[in-house]
Amino acid sequence: MDEYFEPYRTRQKAQGKAYFEAMNVMRADTDGRHRAAAKNLSFFGAPQVALLFMPSFGDDVRVGGDIGMYGQTFLLSLAARGLGGIPQTMLGFFAGTVREVLDIPKNHKMLFGISFGYPDEEAPGNRMRMDRVPVSESVTFHE
Ligand SMILES: Cc1cc2nc3c(=O)[nH]c(=O)nc-3n(C[C@H](O)[C@H](O)[C@H](O)COP(=O)(O)O)c2cc1C
Repeated sequence: MDEYFEPYRTRQKAQGKAYFEAMNVMRADTDGRHRAAAKNLSFFGAPQVALLFMPSFGDDVRVGGDIGMYGQTFLLSLAARGLGGIPQTMLGFFAGTVREVLDIPKNHKMLFGISFGYPDEEAPGNRMRMDRVPVSESVTFHE
């Protein structure tokens, strides 16, 4: 993936720091980071995962937006039923293997996965609350 530029780079770093702190993993703790990655790749213990593939057309931007909206609606419908979902781009590292095992055509790209189930509110990752920038920083109003 291309490097994030500012202000996204700063926000990305803050998110990573808050995430690893919530998981009790210090910056130099390589084993801890590997354990966190292993949790990520085993769906954080969720009993099932939805893998969102999109048909690849042109620069993929339009379809990417469509599937992003589908993912958000899926997350909201889980929440409405007392379930929780974790969107995970990281699962895309194994898109090739998933495609092979589930026999998904090559012209479909994996966008992300959503692990889901009943959330364990006590799990370290679920106790993390990420700040949001104020609306005035993320929206430009024109009169
Ligand atoms: C599209 C998308 C992809 C994400 N990919 C990952 C991922 O691969 N691994 C991970 O631990 N968190 C990932 N996250 C972040 C978490 O799913 C979750 O959003 C984060 O822990 C903070 O939750 P919040 O959005 O409710 O603040 C992703 C979030 C989004 C929206």
